Amino acid sequence: MPKTIKKLAVLTSGGDSPGMNAAIRAVVRACAYHNIECIGVYRGYEGLIEGDFESMDARSVKGIINKGGTFLKSARSKEFRTAEGRQKAYKKLVEAEIDGLVAIGGDGTFTGAMIFNQEFGFPVIGIPGTIDNDIFGTSHTLGFDTALNTVVDAIDKIRDTASSHNRLFFVEVMGRDVGHIALNAGIAGGAEEILIPEEDLGLERLVDSLNRSRKSGKSSSIVVVAEGDKIGKNIFELKDFVDQNMEGYDVRVSVLGHMQRGGAPSCFDRVLASRMGVKAVESLLEGKTNYMVGLLNGKMELTPLEKAIKGKTKINLELLRVSDIMST
Ligand code: F6P
Repeated sequence: MPKTIKKLAVLTSGGDSPGMNAAIRAVVRACAYHNIECIGVYRGYEGLIEGDFESMDARSVKGIINKGGTFLKSARSKEFRTAEGRQKAYKKLVEAEIDGLVAIGGDGTFTGAMIFNQEFGFPVIGIPGTIDNDIFGTSHTLGFDTALNTVVDAIDKIRDTASSHNRLFFVEVMGRDVGHIALNAGIAGGAEEILIPEEDLGLERLVDSLNRSRKSGKSSSIVVVAEGDKIGKNIFELKDFVDQNMEGYDVRVSVLGHMQRGGAPSCFDRVLASRMGVKAVESLLEGKTNYMVGLLNGKMELTPLEKAIKGKTKINLELLRVSDIMST
């Protein structure tokens, strides 16, 4: 029989993403609904090691569903990667009589949670919070949809300048090693070409594609480049290459950067966060541990943390084809 859960803790760790606050709110309110205590842990695993805890009730999380970032703050903890650090964290949890932990974050956060569970048998459930959408076991990570909308809005604005000045813009977007943001936002923003790590386009094909665009009558172009793409690794070198090898292009680079991680979460992310928070708490109450909650075929499902971390999120080949056809 699993131990009866009376008190849960929630933390956010790794890079922040829009919707994290909404997820904390959902965890706190689900705890209140089920009459169990909820503790907010500040600064991710750092705060867990130091016992930086605060008791939360339903009213503690008012007015945050629409706020970007995470009011619990986030950190990438080096100490939690050590056995000593995790031992300190376990001691703090036991002292505070906490029976389970909801960890909101990406693969680094889940790796920490999984090792912690293996070492101490401490019940953990993960909520995937990252704009990169690089976690297996969910069609959408928390913040991905909002980041897409932010990027599309930026591309729309850049296009105004691109077309006014007949310019070619390389727009670099985040995504770490994957191209989900680039591919989706590129299609939605009407990009002429999209460079992603999953598909090695090669410089030659990029040049061909730009030439084709020009011949077809386009006077300006937008190329969306994922930060993890091989050609895009140094986007300024890409600009220099076009400047030196292709005539008549007025090239500019726009690196969107951390603005992609901020801002009010979209409706989709708020609903997703609320569903994930409830599922996380109720899973722990049912005695489930070492899982991540995710959205699969419209339903909340559990995936073992190990699979969530190690499984590869495949790029949608149909989207790739659509993007090729759209750049005709
Ligand atoms: O994982 C989210 C993310 O924003 C990635 O897209 C990006 O590569 C990385 O974090 C940036 O990390 P930092 O905020 O530490 O510079």
